[in-house]
Amino acid sequence: SSFPSQLKNGLSKLGVPNEVLEILFKWADDDGDYPKIPEAKGAIKAIRSEPFFLPLYKLYLTYGGIFRLTFGPKSFLIVSDPAMAKHILKDNSKSYSKGILAEILEFVMGKGLIPADGEIWRVRRRAIVPALHLKYVAAMVNLFGQATDRLCKKLDGAATDGEDVEMESLFSHLTLDIIGKAVFNYDFDSLRNDTGIVEAVYTVLREAEDRSVSPIPTWEIPIWKDISPRQRKVAEALKLINDVLDDLIATCKRMVEEEELQFHEEYMNEQDPSILRFLLASGDDVSSKQLRDDLMTMLIAGHETSAAVLTWTFYLLSKEPSVVAKLQDEVDSVLGDRYPTIDDMKKLKYTTRVINESLRLYPQPPVLIRRSLENDVLGKYPIKRGEDIFISVWNLHRSPSLWEDADKFNPERWPLDGPNPNETNQNFCYLPFGGGPRKCVGDMFASFENLKRSSSDLQTVVAVAMLVRRFNFQMALGAPPVEMTTGATIHTTAGLKMTVTRRMKPPIIPELDTQGLKMEASVRISEEV
Ligand code: HEM
Repeated sequence: SSFPSQLKNGLSKLGVPNEVLEILFKWADDDGDYPKIPEAKGAIKAIRSEPFFLPLYKLYLTYGGIFRLTFGPKSFLIVSDPAMAKHILKDNSKSYSKGILAEILEFVMGKGLIPADGEIWRVRRRAIVPALHLKYVAAMVNLFGQATDRLCKKLDGAATDGEDVEMESLFSHLTLDIIGKAVFNYDFDSLRNDTGIVEAVYTVLREAEDRSVSPIPTWEIPIWKDISPRQRKVAEALKLINDVLDDLIATCKRMVEEEELQFHEEYMNEQDPSILRFLLASGDDVSSKQLRDDLMTMLIAGHETSAAVLTWTFYLLSKEPSVVAKLQDEVDSVLGDRYPTIDDMKKLKYTTRVINESLRLYPQPPVLIRRSLENDVLGKYPIKRGEDIFISVWNLHRSPSLWEDADKFNPERWPLDGPNPNETNQNFCYLPFGGGPRKCVGDMFASFENLKRSSSDLQTVVAVAMLVRRFNFQMALGAPPVEMTTGATIHTTAGLKMTVTRRMKPPIIPELDTQGLKMEASVRISEEV
């Protein structure tokens, strides 16, 4: 090492305090006139015992919008500053890759859209995004309604029997059923069926989560990989899922070949509205392995995030009866007992605010991961190529300097007549779907004039609306305290145990809109389709 650092080490051994050395040797580490990124020290122990984003929050309050955290030979930059987040995600996004995230997820997602970088990402993003057109979303809203209705039937049974329900796992089944149909037209039917393929999906998901929080990558040790019962179980689960996906791809290919329907921009087969069908019908020239990686990526991305959003939304609602009352008023007047349509999505404004606010308090995932591909400058700090960076969305969303009453669940913080909050109109203080070119794919609908919002949360809006219309939810008596644990998304440590009672339904209040206006709205949609 360099002379200054040898000297520094020597003085340190002689007992010169570190604080003094830092000041004496500041010049030696400096990159010209640039200041040095603050280093968080002595904070490493705390990180093992609780979900990692909580100690990062405390460190943020001490060290500010960017600081370095070092574990032995590894070091990370923790970014919690909106302008730096915007720079990394949007303005200079080409200088950043998915880094560690791609390494962790490789075993399950391969080169799928979330981990992929560079040219592969660009090509796949261009192929996939057009599949999520307005007509597809309209079909999805209908699908969300049907799937949520299955959950309602299940809850009806529990209400009759007076049994408490564990909502986190029910939401996980609901969103698995939805994403299976939405992405490759497969009915997991996991609300009723809990074997084979469903079990395999959960085995793989748990493994991905464990790997993302495990400090030592045991799964990379060659012999361990083959003899560890757990790793063998993961390998078997992956094989089962891959076989099912290969079958689905092959069957779908045959169907597309037999089909009369010509491919066009808003192609959609009514019997099979899936993304897979669109990709195959479009003549997307892609290997089966890449296609499988993309399907697997969307399966995991869509399932995990949506289930977590529903879980934390119901947890927040259980503590705020006044919000529930307003929510129920809106749903009673907009929907009554109907299944929601895409038109209703614009009218369920308060429901949307509730989801916006739940996404602020419990962002899924709580951190975004990047690696610098070139030297760059963040704020006033130069950084080197190869830095691993965590953008803490949790910190941004709960920052006391960016939000009033940051920890309070307050859907009213965004007025109903204002725009839906997104990263652009909130200046990167609010990033529930990321930002820049790698933003969640569901978000492309924001560009439709009459549906100015992200579609990724539509299934959450449908589920919340239908559930609160039909039931009242309370934390069950003697339920375990709701605490957080984390993998890719935020889970509860011991489930969300609730008591469900059927609502005494008020009569359906007719809408103020006349029938004529409603007709006009649906004609407008069908014209665009
Ligand atoms: C990307 C959140 C639903 C597919 C992302 C990102 C976030 C996010 C924050 C950015 C990740 C990053 O920058 O590192 C959410 C939330 C959802 C949701 C909160 C539900 C409420 C979905 C659904 C799908 C999906 C339903 C499936 C179609 C993807 C994909 C990407 C992505 C493929 C990667 C895009 C790319 O890198 O080009 N999502 N998502 N997400 N999401 Fe979502």
